Amino acid sequence: MAATATHPDATSKPTPLRLTDKHGRAITDLRVSVTDRCNYKCVYCRTGTEGAQYAELPIADYLRMVRVFVSLGIEKVRLTGGEPLLRKGLVEMVAALAGMRTSFAADGAPLAAGAGQPLDIALTTNGHLLEDLAQPLKEAGLGRITVSMDAVNREKFARITRVPDSFDKVLAGVRAAKRVGLDPVKVNCVLLRGFNEDQIVEFAKFSRDEGIIVRFIEFMPLEEDRVWTPEVVVRLKEILAALNKFQPVMPLAPNAASETALRYTFADGLGEMGIIAPVSHPFCGHCSRVRLTSDGKIRTCLFSQFDHDLYGVLRRGGDDAALAAFIQRTVNQKEARHHIGEPDFLKPSRSMVHIGG
Ligand code: 5AD
Repeated sequence: MAATATHPDATSKPTPLRLTDKHGRAITDLRVSVTDRCNYKCVYCRTGTEGAQYAELPIADYLRMVRVFVSLGIEKVRLTGGEPLLRKGLVEMVAALAGMRTSFAADGAPLAAGAGQPLDIALTTNGHLLEDLAQPLKEAGLGRITVSMDAVNREKFARITRVPDSFDKVLAGVRAAKRVGLDPVKVNCVLLRGFNEDQIVEFAKFSRDEGIIVRFIEFMPLEEDRVWTPEVVVRLKEILAALNKFQPVMPLAPNAASETALRYTFADGLGEMGIIAPVSHPFCGHCSRVRLTSDGKIRTCLFSQFDHDLYGVLRRGGDDAALAAFIQRTVNQKEARHHIGEPDFLKPSRSMVHIGG
């Protein structure tokens, strides 16, 4: 059933309203966390102590909520976690997403059911279990994949993830993703001073050798422990300086207006490096994202102080129109921007592993 709301100009037929927030941003990207379990204990994310409790919903319930989001204009769905490859039923979930169609034309006009484009389906993983899952995920309809990899050096990798013997599995996973035709394959590297700032050039070489896109991410205060300080952040300027010392870098044009990464290559065109700089160059003004946590709460910003319990509406028997109204209302209130590094910064109400990348 298509979720609809009455448009002020409507005469006879109600017109579906496309998701926008009060700052005028069109919301087209949804990130869905399918578990908050993770098999890593990365120093910049987890405390390293085991929490016994975790939150997961039935796959069918995620799909129902996603379907309503899609009826309101979501075009891209990224599956995250925790570690999404730990989630039973993930491949089937991808197959179901692959059967969904967008609901609006590029000019914002609503489309008849089934007339839209297939969804853009992406996934972010730590890659530990990817080697065997790359093929089934591709066959189910996954388009693109991002693997988090914070070092190309075995010992450093183990020191950051606090998991021994995973590096070779992740490398095999990245290569399998490429081999089965997931496109693009990207590697995300969160830079942390004292851990991996010496990996910048190593990753540039890795990008050139493996034909994958590497993205360096400035560390944000989203961790369970309080390890974030401005000094730990390795910023865009420093990343570019390190790359330029290796070889002069050249900027690439953005792929889309809402793109988070500034893109670069080298003079010979070999290698692609993105820099995601939420701390030194915030991109909130063109943010197109909202998140659904693994327990079914909407987060309108990584740094939100509140969750919005969409699953509560479903659990209380709300129909799709009720879910749609809740989503519209919540997304409308999306924060203008984050306040990292400012005196009034408040830590978000949840850490990354419980939000979903
Ligand atoms: N700051 C920046 N990036 C982070 N990630 C996890 N925690 C942080 C943080 N505090 C990255 C992961 C993954 C992506 C979803 O977000 O490494 O690549």
